[in-house]
Amino acid sequence: MEEIFDIANAFDILQSEKLEGDVIFHVTDEKTALLKNAGDMVVRTADGQTAIDVYAGDEKTRDRWRKTGGKIAAWMKAHCPKSAGLDCGPADRRELLVGLLLGAYEFSKYKEAPKEVCGPLSVCMDKAEFDEVKIICDAQNMAREWAHEPASVINPWTLSDRAEAFAQVYGLNCTILDDEQLREMGAGAIVAVGQGSKTPSRMIILEYPGTKPGKPVVLVGKAITFDSGGLSLKTVAGMPTMKYDKCGAMAVFGILRAAACLKLETPVTGVICAAENMPDGGSYRPDDILTSLSGKTIEIRSTDAEGRLVLCDGLTYAQQHLDPRCIIDYATLTGACRVAFGTTRAGCMCTDDAVFSGLFASGEKTQERIWRLPTDEDYLEPLKSPDADLKNSSGAREAGACVAGMFLKSFIHDGMPWAHLDIAGTAYHMEGSAYYVPGATGFGVRLTVDWLRGL
Ligand code: BES
Ligand code: MN
Ligand code: ZN
Repeated sequence: MEEIFDIANAFDILQSEKLEGDVIFHVTDEKTALLKNAGDMVVRTADGQTAIDVYAGDEKTRDRWRKTGGKIAAWMKAHCPKSAGLDCGPADRRELLVGLLLGAYEFSKYKEAPKEVCGPLSVCMDKAEFDEVKIICDAQNMAREWAHEPASVINPWTLSDRAEAFAQVYGLNCTILDDEQLREMGAGAIVAVGQGSKTPSRMIILEYPGTKPGKPVVLVGKAITFDSGGLSLKTVAGMPTMKYDKCGAMAVFGILRAAACLKLETPVTGVICAAENMPDGGSYRPDDILTSLSGKTIEIRSTDAEGRLVLCDGLTYAQQHLDPRCIIDYATLTGACRVAFGTTRAGCMCTDDAVFSGLFASGEKTQERIWRLPTDEDYLEPLKSPDADLKNSSGAREAGACVAGMFLKSFIHDGMPWAHLDIAGTAYHMEGSAYYVPGATGFGVRLTVDWLRGL
């Protein structure tokens, strides 16, 4: 099981006091005739030694250093030197290292091993700073790696096995509720979503106690290990990538790992709502009426609006059993949010201005950016049902992200600070970008860790 926690990058990145290696990178922010655009490189070779100047550009942002790190990582992957050293120059070292560590990641475990071994890359910087950034990025890369695993490998049952091993390694308390226990408890919504699968639903609760006692921040993650749509089956074009419908929960694993390794003060509890949404003779159906853990009944309009169903029981469980200081949920909830914001920002619905502004600020700082969505009661109108307390989908496309968020909000008790992050767009990129290869990004890990540290 060890290798599922130690995610190997394409090359190792080590901390060093000395600048050494076959290749030496020099980061610079001085424009020259040859270094005109951000990311430009000048390579000079003499006596088997290569020196590379890397131009960071003149953008006055933190992200330019991450992008520069991403450039260097891409060069390492492409040229595979035996050893390399990095002179950070004027860079913000932390962010340069973030770009390197995220940029060095690739999902390669199902590919033939490369013939050459690259690296390591030694980075001249302070050890304590290096270790801290590495903890966070390793946690984010683990979230990415797990997100990439197909549904033939990660289903609600194998995920709960992983969670148990994870809890052991990181010293967390772990409780797993299987579908029997969930049914008995009255969590009819999460049970229904998983009932068409060979591996029915699980709820996984992971507790990091913190170093300062107090109420926990509770993180609720959507873990649909595959979203076929169920009987409201997705189209041929709509179904691929739906292994990524567990990205919200993978971010929660990453955050918990970083919290434990950094020994954060604040207690953090994760609630993972795991189910596989499949069509079958036993599946839940459109027109079914479910009773959720809250007691509210839900009429099913679309079995493809399953995320809000697993989450509403997770949110209720958190409020009934975990005494949260505040709740944040992470979910690849709506295609509408992906359409609205693309892969640039996550949508956020929030009942507490202080929580929102904290998350927003951490988003700007880490480049895991969010944008607030409205919470007017009008958005709940389309979910009124003649036969039940709520329906799970309006059947219309208008304001899809807001309507879905309002469904969740109707399970939040008055006065409970709550933020919902719809990461359907940001959780994975098919194109890749400056420091992300195509695929899962681990969005939410750096954002939340930054916010937690400031609490
Ligand atoms: N997992 C999807 C949302 C999604 C779509 C995430 C595309 C990432 C990319 C979610 O379960 C879903 O199917 N939502 C429906 C809701 C609708 C039936 C109300 C959607 O967005 O179409
Ligand atoms: Mn769906
Ligand atoms: Zn889904």
